[in-house]
Amino acid sequence: MMNRFLFIFFIIVFFMFVFSVPAFASEQSVTFSKKDQQKMINVAHRGASGHAPENTMAAFQKAVEMKADYFEIDVQMTKDGELVIIHDTTVNRTTNGTGAVGDLTFEEIRSLDAGSWFDEKYAGEKIPTFEEVLDAFRGKIGILVELKSPELYPGIEEKIATVLKERNMDRPNNKKIIIQSFNHDSVQQSKTLLPNLPHGVLAGPSWRNVTDEQLKEFATYADYFNPNMNIVTTELVNRVHATGMLIMPYTSRSQKQADRLFHLGVDGIVTDYPEHVYKHPVK
Ligand code: G3P
Ligand code: CA
Repeated sequence: MMNRFLFIFFIIVFFMFVFSVPAFASEQSVTFSKKDQQKMINVAHRGASGHAPENTMAAFQKAVEMKADYFEIDVQMTKDGELVIIHDTTVNRTTNGTGAVGDLTFEEIRSLDAGSWFDEKYAGEKIPTFEEVLDAFRGKIGILVELKSPELYPGIEEKIATVLKERNMDRPNNKKIIIQSFNHDSVQQSKTLLPNLPHGVLAGPSWRNVTDEQLKEFATYADYFNPNMNIVTTELVNRVHATGMLIMPYTSRSQKQADRLFHLGVDGIVTDYPEHVYKHPVK
């Protein structure tokens, strides 16, 4: 009698186990299965700039650690022709120095502290060069390269192309480098120099009423239309996709903003906080 009781008990436990695994799996699938997930391209803006001083090696390293797909950088040029990574056209806000990037030599730029303004623990961070960033991070993460105010730096497109070519980083299907700018002439010029690399057109709020004709024209040389997040609507996303381009708006700084962009159907999100942009459930 006891043996029969034990046998029935084990049968019940066995079936409970067998049926509980798929039940668990199907519960997980509601929010985590690949089928129900959309991969969002996660771009750490100026590196993981919510956590470390923007456009420094510390911010780029943080983006790698946070498993972003890309980090974004702003490239400008010193008085003596060195390609450096800094957002503003002066060093005033993000270093302990003053002056325009284009009026300072590389030696002067290099002597500045680009970390203390953010937090004392980053004292001694330097303004990196484009070459240093490529050499330190190629193969580890994608790099979204913004030509920042290229009209101030004649020849910067050629310099960038040369540096990438020296490293064989201009090859077809190199999905790990994307070049973009608000200066669309500069994007076109860069596309001519680096035809195998994807390029992006940046669009500020004044492009809110961008027409289909303008989008089609961008698509003749660009692979991405990357607008200010405040002008993004589902309709815009659909119109961009209709041209064959992808759309990666900037710059999300909260979970709410990232979630909104996700639900509008964008392909990637440029954010100061990569932790806001992992996988999202399908709407
Ligand atoms: O990636 C786009 C974004 O970086 C453009 O804005 O001003 O941060 O360079 P900004
Ligand atoms: Ca930028």
